[in-house]
Amino acid sequence: MKISIINGPNLNLLGVRETEIYGFSNFEDYLKTLKHKFPSINFDYFQSNIEGEIIDRLHHVGFESDGIILNAAAYTHTSVGIADAVKAIKTKVIEVHISNTSSREDFRHSSFITPHAKGLITGFGLDSYYLAVSSFVLNNYK
Ligand code: DQA
Repeated sequence: MKISIINGPNLNLLGVRETEIYGFSNFEDYLKTLKHKFPSINFDYFQSNIEGEIIDRLHHVGFESDGIILNAAAYTHTSVGIADAVKAIKTKVIEVHISNTSSREDFRHSSFITPHAKGLITGFGLDSYYLAVSSFVLNNYK
C-alpha cells in the first residue's frame, strides 16, 4: 500500500514554529515514527510553501497512490485551486490538521477542502497523521 503525505506552507518549520500549538517535533522525525509503526506501507512525503506545487503534487500522486493525507495548512482556508485538485483526482484524500482548527480564530473554521475529502482529522497533534494512516489501513477506500 502506498500512502502519500502532502504538507503545505510553513509546515517545514514544525518543531520550531509556534511550538505551543504545533509541538517540538519536526515532520521528518515524525515520519520515521510513522514508518516504524506501519512497516509494510510505502510512504512518500512532499512539502511545499507554494500553492501550485501542491496542486501539481496532487495530480502526480492522485492516480497512483492508495491514499493521500493532506495538510494544506493556511491554504486550507483560502485555496479553491487545491480544493478543485482534490475533487479532480481519483485517490481518496484525508484532510488533517495538527491543531484543532475549530477552537482557533474564526478564519480557521472554514475549509475549502473538507467537502471533497474522505474525512477530516483535526486536533490530535502529529498523531492526526497516525489516525489518518490507520483509517486507510482499516478501510479500502475506492
Ligand atoms: C494547520 C492549521 C492551519 O490553520 C494553519 O494555517 C497551519 C497548520 C494545522 O495543522 O493545525 O499552518 O493546518
